[in-house]
Amino acid sequence: MTSPRPILVTGGAGYIGSHTVLQLLEAGQRVVVVDNLCNAHEESLRRVAELSGQQPTFHQVDLLDAAALGAVIQQHRPQAAIHFAGLKAVGESSQIPIQYYHNNITGTIHLLQALAAVNCRQLVFSSSATVYGDAQEMPITEAAPLSATNAYGRTKLFIEHLLADACIADPEMKVICLRYFNPVGAHPSGRIGEDPNGIPNNLMPFITQVAVGRRPHLNIFGNDYPTPDGTGVRDYIHVVDLAAGHLAALDAMDRISGCEAINLGTGRGYSVLEVLRAMETASGRPVPYEIQGRRRGDVATSYADPSKAQQLLGWQARRELSEMCDDAWRWQQSNPLGYAGQP
Ligand code: NAD
Ligand code: UD1
Repeated sequence: MTSPRPILVTGGAGYIGSHTVLQLLEAGQRVVVVDNLCNAHEESLRRVAELSGQQPTFHQVDLLDAAALGAVIQQHRPQAAIHFAGLKAVGESSQIPIQYYHNNITGTIHLLQALAAVNCRQLVFSSSATVYGDAQEMPITEAAPLSATNAYGRTKLFIEHLLADACIADPEMKVICLRYFNPVGAHPSGRIGEDPNGIPNNLMPFITQVAVGRRPHLNIFGNDYPTPDGTGVRDYIHVVDLAAGHLAALDAMDRISGCEAINLGTGRGYSVLEVLRAMETASGRPVPYEIQGRRRGDVATSYADPSKAQQLLGWQARRELSEMCDDAWRWQQSNPLGYAGQP
């Protein structure tokens, strides 16, 4: 896969981006990261360099600044891009929807224009299982009906549509939209991981913060769902497996044409209580919880049919829930305040 032209990674200082940049460097790729650091620290890239022994090139640039982005892309002339950059908080997206549409959609348009100017026609896009809305059939295949229940989800859906249109207009263009299920965990070194701002919205970082004593208890959003123990069921996927899916997608570019949407999940669902128990085992600490009402917009159950990823990318998730919890816990314990807590 080594090539003299680099891989451009937008949002590469973030949670999933930093794990993917590490694997790209370990695979011998040159990597150029563009990130405005609105939800990340440059420290993540310093640690990626320390782990890999390789230095990614970093440009602190906003995708909304078309001129600056264009200049970076003209300078490096990437062979392909992986596009992680985006705002991702569901609740916030309902409060400031225009900012979400502008950042995520306009940012993507600027990226496509700048890539076209250097004849780069290969893109991997971070989509989400949120594009399935309240799916009726489990496991969820890529052929399931698409819908969105919030502004964040709609940005993902619209971007998938605009990428499909771009591929129809240009037969040489190749795009893989990776629909992630629930990314969790951290690199096994404990050096890079998820560093949410403020109170975590997602389950795993909330649970690790309870286990480490930063928060008194977990609020479980509903125990009256039609699931085995009444709590919500999700397809949690280790971020290291997820990152590997991006390298597999780059490798598959020669084998696809046009725009493909591909699920990245394990195919197995776990309930909130199962995750909580697994974290108690990993940490050796109790995780107190209180049952609350359901969270608006939540679905009872969501898990992937990952067979298309196996067929098209030759990829499958390998890490179990216990490993996800062990690694999330190691990251949390060694970085109790995230990257900002480091000297
Ligand atoms: P993250 O916030 O850690 O990473 C996103 C990165 O993009 C951040 O480093 C941020 O600073 C950067 N960014 C945002 N807007 C930018 C802009 N205009 N210009 C330049 N940089 C910008 O999030 P993540 O969890 O690593 O997610 C990566 C991608 O995957 C996002 O697009 C997200 O929507 C998608 N996704 C994430 C999840 C999840 O649970 N983490 C699930 C499904 C999809
Ligand atoms: C959420 C987003 C989804 C996004 C995904 C990415 C919502 C409604 N959906 O999905 O769009 O793609 O994150 O990671 O925000 N839970 C608790 N207590 C908590 C946190 C969560 O009980 O403090 C439960 C939830 O009700 C759910 C499960 O844990 O059953 C997982 O929640 P979460 O980690 O937020 O992910 P999703 O809801 O699947």
